[in-house]
Amino acid sequence: QVKMVKICCLGAGYVGGPTMAVIALKCPDIEVVVVDISSNRINAWNSETLPIYEPGLDDVVKQCRGRNLFFSTDIEKHIAEADIIFVSVNTPTKTRGLGAGKAADLTYWESAARMIADVAKSDKVVVEKSTVPVKTAEAIEKILTHNSKGINFQILSNPEFLAEGTAIQDLFNPDRVLIGGRETPEGKAAVQKLKEVYAHWVPEDRILTTNLWSAELSKLAANAFLAQRISSVNAMSALCEATGANVSEVSYAVGKDSRIGPKFLNASVGFGGSCFQKDILNLVYICECNGLPEVANYWKQVIKINDYQKSRFVNRVVSSMFNTVANKKIAVLGFAFKKDTGDTRETPAIDVCKGLLGDKAKISIYDPQVTEDQIQRDLAMNKFDWDHPLHLQPMSPTAVKQVTVTWDAYEATKDAHGVCILTEWDEFKNLDYAKIYEGMQKPAFVFDGRNIVDSEKLREIGFIVYSIGKPLDAWLKDMPAVA
Ligand code: NAD
Ligand code: UDX
Repeated sequence: QVKMVKICCLGAGYVGGPTMAVIALKCPDIEVVVVDISSNRINAWNSETLPIYEPGLDDVVKQCRGRNLFFSTDIEKHIAEADIIFVSVNTPTKTRGLGAGKAADLTYWESAARMIADVAKSDKVVVEKSTVPVKTAEAIEKILTHNSKGINFQILSNPEFLAEGTAIQDLFNPDRVLIGGRETPEGKAAVQKLKEVYAHWVPEDRILTTNLWSAELSKLAANAFLAQRISSVNAMSALCEATGANVSEVSYAVGKDSRIGPKFLNASVGFGGSCFQKDILNLVYICECNGLPEVANYWKQVIKINDYQKSRFVNRVVSSMFNTVANKKIAVLGFAFKKDTGDTRETPAIDVCKGLLGDKAKISIYDPQVTEDQIQRDLAMNKFDWDHPLHLQPMSPTAVKQVTVTWDAYEATKDAHGVCILTEWDEFKNLDYAKIYEGMQKPAFVFDGRNIVDSEKLREIGFIVYSIGKPLDAWLKDMPAVA
């Protein structure tokens, strides 16, 4: 009888939870335990209401929870028992100290590694699942081997490429699985061991193996390339508005070139999410530390354009309404950083709402998945300026009182002067805009930050419509230029 492989994953978040659920589903012969220091999170994973919203996730968890998938707070026990340990803890941007504003904060990572070193009594394969700076594996190796009692630790880098909102689909059918390891016989054996896990459902030619540093860097590189496409198309959107070109036509024409391809070319109010900004800043910092300021500045510009796109949007709203939104009700449809998730980390909606509040607007927010508590917390947080980390811009306490949150799009838009669409939820395409128009102050504006509504239809109803990167209505053209 072959011994059952045991996997333990540290970190039951957006990555650890769905990834381990899919491994458990596809590998009935493997026992998977996901552990976390947050008992609230573990309790939620063990309940009917999972801690994250992700299409298809409930179904996968239901099929294997209690069978070969477990969620626990008993971290030590499960580390001790595991053959393979995934580390999927958070690696946010440092907000203070050396590298503040750019470098990855590896506090959680290091404490996870120390815990493994303390508790392990047998050989382990330790897998970096979190996104980490290139060369992290070397640091982790030092921590593990320094404390080891003759135990063999092999470190692998296995970055995760899933996107939120499509996590289950991405995990079922990944473009590639990337495994980096040491080029020693022990390293190669560890790579093989992890490869066998994925080979349960991923075709062999999609499982790539590389050296450790290539795997670590490829994750940062992939996110930087993806975000760069969005900033490129968003930069074009500003030029389109200035010239009468239409960004959808331009990106369609550009994307038809098979060398460029059609995906990830949607102009928007800006990219959000917990990864893109954090990972590019991390890359920028690594370049600076390696004496490559030109390369650092090149990637920094991707984030600068993203900040510019968000403030350009706010300026457009304010300038269209006679340069003042003071005490005007503005409805915000969508707060999550993209559709099909309740995640609000780095959502452009935070900056847009803060910009409008800075101009004294009253805002009323509706998002199908984000709770009022979450929105209030996000808006009450001081804005962290990555480019000048010492300047925390404090939030005025009165501004927060200008915010209401509803569970209904029609209530949010009632008596509003303008509507800002900030997340591309499908339901916003099919709202009864004639009814919304009736209930609004006139002139009534729609600012479509995701280019999802049919602007011609809305204009027929009577709205003044702004779409990102599209030819401007006469009204908007007549208003002062925005920058
Ligand atoms: P998350 O904040 O949702 O989850 C991290 C979890 O780790 C938290 O629940 C936290 O309590 C737990 N944790 C922290 N220290 C711990 C410890 N010592 N032991 C056990 N648990 C601990 O974060 P996430 O979105 O899942 O991201 C995790 C990592 O994956 C990050 O490095 C991120 O960059 C990367 N990543 C994220 C995505 C994404 O779409 N969210 C995609 C790919 C990669
Ligand atoms: C991203 C990467 O796609 C994923 O591979 C990695 O593992 C984690 O980071 P995620 O942040 O979850 O995933 O979502 P993603 O679909 O990449 O969207 C990020 C942001 O870009 C969202 O705010 C989205 O609305 C925006 N976006 C995306 C655009 O503005 N235009 C586009 O064309 C695509």
